[in-house]
Amino acid sequence: MAENNQNEDKNIKGFYRTITYGCQMNEHDSEKLAGVLQNEGYQPTTELEKADIIVLNTCCVRENAELKVYGKVGSLKEYKRENPDLLIGICGCMMQQEEVVQEIKEKYSHVDMVFGTHNIHEFPRLLKEAKEVPKTLIDVWEEKEGLIPDLPSRRESDHKAWVTIIYGCNNFCTYCIVPYVRGREKSRPVKDIVSEVEKLVEEGVKEVTLLGQNVNSYGHDFDKNIDFADLLKELDQIKGLARIRYMTSHPRDFTNDLIDTIANTEKVCQHFHLPIQSGSDRILKEMNRGYSQTEYLNLVKNIRKKMPDAAISTDIIVGFPGETEEDFAETLKVVKEARFDMAYTFKYSQRSGTPAAEMKEQITEEVKKARLQRLMDLQSTISDEKNQSLVGKTVEVFGEGESKKDEDKQMGRTRTNKIVIFNSDSGLTGELISVKINKATSWTLFGDLVK
Ligand code: SAH
Ligand code: SF4
Ligand code: F3S
Repeated sequence: MAENNQNEDKNIKGFYRTITYGCQMNEHDSEKLAGVLQNEGYQPTTELEKADIIVLNTCCVRENAELKVYGKVGSLKEYKRENPDLLIGICGCMMQQEEVVQEIKEKYSHVDMVFGTHNIHEFPRLLKEAKEVPKTLIDVWEEKEGLIPDLPSRRESDHKAWVTIIYGCNNFCTYCIVPYVRGREKSRPVKDIVSEVEKLVEEGVKEVTLLGQNVNSYGHDFDKNIDFADLLKELDQIKGLARIRYMTSHPRDFTNDLIDTIANTEKVCQHFHLPIQSGSDRILKEMNRGYSQTEYLNLVKNIRKKMPDAAISTDIIVGFPGETEEDFAETLKVVKEARFDMAYTFKYSQRSGTPAAEMKEQITEEVKKARLQRLMDLQSTISDEKNQSLVGKTVEVFGEGESKKDEDKQMGRTRTNKIVIFNSDSGLTGELISVKINKATSWTLFGDLVK
């Protein structure tokens, strides 16, 4: 894969801006769109007024995400009025839904091209055609056999990179739209992943994050007996690579063998993101998650036994249809027992076409809101306690650049994925350094560089 193929020598044809909603898969897809645009002779700009091409990469996992996209598309109309040659594209998960495409066609005629998650490799052709066709060009594919061809990426960072290992999802959790808009699971061959990571390392990358909706399913679709643990062992051998992360793993498929592999590798980070979604066995079953509260807590116990300093984070949904106060109390109970370092918490959002959207006992917004607040309050206290316990300790930090909030300070992450803000005279981006923690909040650690 020709990563970071920037072709800076070509004459600049114009400027582009990508705007991304949603998860890391979308972030990575946007890097590919940027790579394509760069190869075509376009340069990035942050100023929308200056852009000749604007691409919105959309997410539909919750209603909020969709509302944001509609708001943004609407606001782009004025830029088109100012610059009639501006090309506006919309792609990503939201566009895999027919009703949405219909709505865009009817109400947002200033959009020039619409495409989906299965044909981003067609972007160069679409771009060319959209310039010639006056009306909205719509090209959304149903899923096809085989893998999407690799595309060059323009990475956000010189030192970290996303690497897709498996596309799609076969789990069909009853609340979730992802399997419908991203298609079935398809693993990339080991050799393609290894050679991509080797090439990235040659270019200066030290940390890779392996991407998939369920990375633990990696290799299930191969004839050969290869799984995620085998892939990690293989990547751990790559010289010059410092850290390996992955997103997201499914608690049901997290085997003891995988825990052992992670404990025994040098580069795989001690951060486990294990979305629990609910603590109630009854709700977990309705969600089709495939594990019980006890099984989940045992998994947490096994990880902590092998790696006492590991961080564990989670995703939780409140207000799934039929969730009673007792069910919610089970979620709070698990949160107290598991003592997560961090939790991403969401109000259940009805997604049309999913089984849960049809369930009778939908929960009112008011109840969802109140439960979310109680959950966030509890988790914030736990996160704070967990982080306070690191004060006085020296941790390994991977420098990621200036702090967004304070330009005089640097920002980096621990192996456990905690954000650390530290003082340093020189930029230490892309370097592994030691930082002594002297202050902590629920979300951030602060410290001083250890010389
Ligand atoms: N594949 C990943 C997560 C994908 S979506 C996994 O299984 O963990 C990220 C998170 O969004 C999910 O973990 C879930 O907590 C949340 N989510 C998904 N669908 C949702 C919905 N309909 N309403 C609210 N939250 C949702
Ligand atoms: Fe959605 Fe479940 Fe697949 Fe995650 S595992 S993407 S929550 S269906
Ligand atoms: Fe959203 Fe698509 Fe990711 S729906 S969460 S961007 S896979």
